[in-house]
Amino acid sequence: MKKAGSATDVLWFKDAIIYELHVRAFQDSNGDGVGDFPGLISRLDYLQDLGVTCLWLLPFFPSPLRDDGYDIANYVDVNPVYGTLADFKAFLDEAHKRGMQVLIELVINHTSDQHPWFQAARNAPSGSPLRDFYVWSQDNQRYRDVPIIFKDTEKSNWAWDEVAGAYYWHRFFSHQPDLNFDNEAVMEEVLKAMRFWLDMGVDALRMDAIPYLYERDGTRCESLPETHAAIKRIRAAIDADYTNRIILAEANQWPSDVRPYFGDGDECHMAFHFPLMPRIYMALRQEDRLPITDIMAQTPPIPDNCQWALFLRNHDELTLEMVTDDERDYMYYAYSADPKMRINVGIRRRLAPLVDNNRRRIELLNSLIFSFPGTPIVYYGDEIGMGDNIYLGDRNGVRTPMHWNPDRNAGFSTAVPERLYFPVVMDPIYGYQAVNVETQLSDQSSLLHWTRNMIALRKLFQVFGRGTLEFLSPTNRKVLAYLRRYTLLDGHIETVLCVANLSRFAQPALLDLAQFAGCVPVEMLGYVPFPPISQQLYAVTLTPYSFFWLELQPAPEAPQPPASLSDEEAAELARHPGDTEVQVPLTPDAPDTAQRSDLTRKTER
Ligand code: GLC
Repeated sequence: MKKAGSATDVLWFKDAIIYELHVRAFQDSNGDGVGDFPGLISRLDYLQDLGVTCLWLLPFFPSPLRDDGYDIANYVDVNPVYGTLADFKAFLDEAHKRGMQVLIELVINHTSDQHPWFQAARNAPSGSPLRDFYVWSQDNQRYRDVPIIFKDTEKSNWAWDEVAGAYYWHRFFSHQPDLNFDNEAVMEEVLKAMRFWLDMGVDALRMDAIPYLYERDGTRCESLPETHAAIKRIRAAIDADYTNRIILAEANQWPSDVRPYFGDGDECHMAFHFPLMPRIYMALRQEDRLPITDIMAQTPPIPDNCQWALFLRNHDELTLEMVTDDERDYMYYAYSADPKMRINVGIRRRLAPLVDNNRRRIELLNSLIFSFPGTPIVYYGDEIGMGDNIYLGDRNGVRTPMHWNPDRNAGFSTAVPERLYFPVVMDPIYGYQAVNVETQLSDQSSLLHWTRNMIALRKLFQVFGRGTLEFLSPTNRKVLAYLRRYTLLDGHIETVLCVANLSRFAQPALLDLAQFAGCVPVEMLGYVPFPPISQQLYAVTLTPYSFFWLELQPAPEAPQPPASLSDEEAAELARHPGDTEVQVPLTPDAPDTAQRSDLTRKTER
């Protein structure tokens, strides 16, 4: 008997809206200055109201926290500073009760050097099974051509261990030794840890740093056939015993190199689309759609049961590994004026500061990841436009406490401010007194309300998560226009036309929509019908950084006048046949409740 997950549809992840958060940063319940599970539970209503459907938790396991928890010292427990296993279970139940799935980290490439496995390994005799949990060498010359990932902190992928009297292999920080997957006992321990969380009811696992599981001479030790075999084994173990659970690959590579991580639909269910992300920012800055259309043209089709994960920002730097040297120079120039904003191969800033706190740009970028083929991920705090703190070390500037209200510590904690794990952002523009949830909830035109409406709207149309993508080619390259199409189970075809203006100035565009002649584009946020499409090029005009989502609906059939109408009434109806279909248009600033009732009407179609 397979253990059921909390989701009821096997493809649930395609319709999901993922919200990435750190327990540490979300809500402190006991005043020790660090967020915890009871605190997170107390904020679940907020997340449910925002409309997100899947919570991605950054690592919360026992750890010395030298890499924010990606340095794991015990795979099957909770870091006491965040709570207990019982607290985690309570959180999981509460999330499930609210219809939200839970995604956690499965970091199997490496452990902390404080993990008992490493402590045992370094003390065990050379060649013994315990020593073999990690990758050792007597010299540091093996695998010499393998690139260093954390270039700014590490000089080599080998580190000397005094106790063992040998070098150990590490692809990330030197305090994170890589596990040795050539040792069967390692895989068995990994499967055990995975089952521990899946048995509890966890819905999804993010497979951190997945390309680097194996090492082989003469290769880049990346995406080796052995690695794919290991992932298939993990997937088979999940499919054998569980339903509706998924794995998400973190493989920071070109789309054609990521494609194998989906296998034949028998490896990972999802993978991040890393190269799309910087190209969205590039397209915006260059006011040219080419970076986006180009990378999407290089994105191969994926199996039907698989999905891309789309994001604008996350807990790491805005990585620039998947761009050319010229593009990287351009991105640094355009998005990180102060060298402090740079780290490793990327930019450590949040969404709002990246786009100069320009509300229209924030909305435009979100509209793209909400309407591109894939599942969007919102990074905590970006729904209110939180700022960052580039003076904190590492990537910590984008990991500061969530802003709940204008009170002490932004409502995150009752501790004395000095005790917080990181200071809250306090500057006059992005500081918690200016940017916080409570204030934005009471402001109908806030970014928070906007985000909530977009999430609600997206959830009404399966086409966004499941449909095909086709770009149009208007001559004006500042305008990005694309069609999404999907046939629902009941045979109804959802067709959505998205048009986005990447420019800071108003732009016109002429779209070839002849194949839809006779259809009526209906603007989806306000449910406003636009002029019908004909064989002629369709003209749209866009204000700076604006976008439209237009549902292409078949032309309304001309209503037959009921027999009881007078001649005058029948003539009036003939003159304005469409009026019976017209809904009351809503402005973008319309009260949320009004928009919501409008969205509800759409659901009841
Ligand atoms: C992943 C994580 C990153 C971490 C690294 C090493 O890339 O996203 O935060 O530092 O793995 O564990």
